[in-house]
Amino acid sequence: MHKQARIIAICHPKGGVGKTTTTMVLAAALAERGYGVLVADCDAQASASAWANAAPELKPFPAAVVNLSAYAGKVHREIQKQLDKYDFVVVDCPPGLDSLSPQSAILVADLVIVPLPPSPADLWAARGVKLLIERGLGLNPSLKAVILANRVVRTSLSNAIMRELNEFGIPLMSSRLSNRTAYQEAVISGVSVSALGRDAQVAIGEVNAFADEVLALIGECK
Ligand SMILES: Nc1ncnc2c1ncn2[C@@H]1O[C@H](COP(=O)(O)OP(=O)(O)OP(=O)(O)O)[C@@H](O)[C@H]1O
Ligand SMILES: [Mg+2]
Repeated sequence: MHKQARIIAICHPKGGVGKTTTTMVLAAALAERGYGVLVADCDAQASASAWANAAPELKPFPAAVVNLSAYAGKVHREIQKQLDKYDFVVVDCPPGLDSLSPQSAILVADLVIVPLPPSPADLWAARGVKLLIERGLGLNPSLKAVILANRVVRTSLSNAIMRELNEFGIPLMSSRLSNRTAYQEAVISGVSVSALGRDAQVAIGEVNAFADEVLALIGECK
């Protein structure tokens, strides 16, 4: 059957907000549902590749991972070469406002997800990605963009910022990832959160709800 992968780019100009975590938990959740998934690792730090390489030999990471960081502003061409082989390409973008690969990925993406910890500094930094998306919409009018609240904690400051995110101008996903060690354990072990078993029940539920919402959003893109 001829496939035409849908492209999901995970972007935020600030480092450490959860781009690679979001990429890898989403890619694994989609792959575990039977979809063919490629992670396009566009970051020279190669954290997504390192995550998959840490997987146990007998239990490889469920999605394929390719490092495209050398292609910078031409990653969209490399991604397009893979579209007939997969159902989804999830693009892990590097941080940095001047980085060319997020702009390139946004050119061909169906959906951009902006992981955003509800803290003031991360919210300010996200204004950069808003500009990037607004510019991308000029060239790719069918692009959809959403914010995923990540590392959510229950404090009054976090709750206030979550309310502010609703006004940010990019829709806030109703699913969210809370601040949990399961997400860090998955990196160290090179696995999906579902592979962590019973101890990671809450994280597994969060990731499933996140994957459901992404599929619904992508369905709307068709
Ligand atoms: N929901 C979460 N709960 C707990 N820890 C998290 C969560 N999301 C991310 N982290 C941790 O925060 C750190 C940064 O996350 P991650 O590498 O995904 O960010 P990034 O945006 O890809 O960073 P960079 O810009 O450097 O590529 C990692 O140690 C990761 O395990
Ligand atoms: Mg990263």
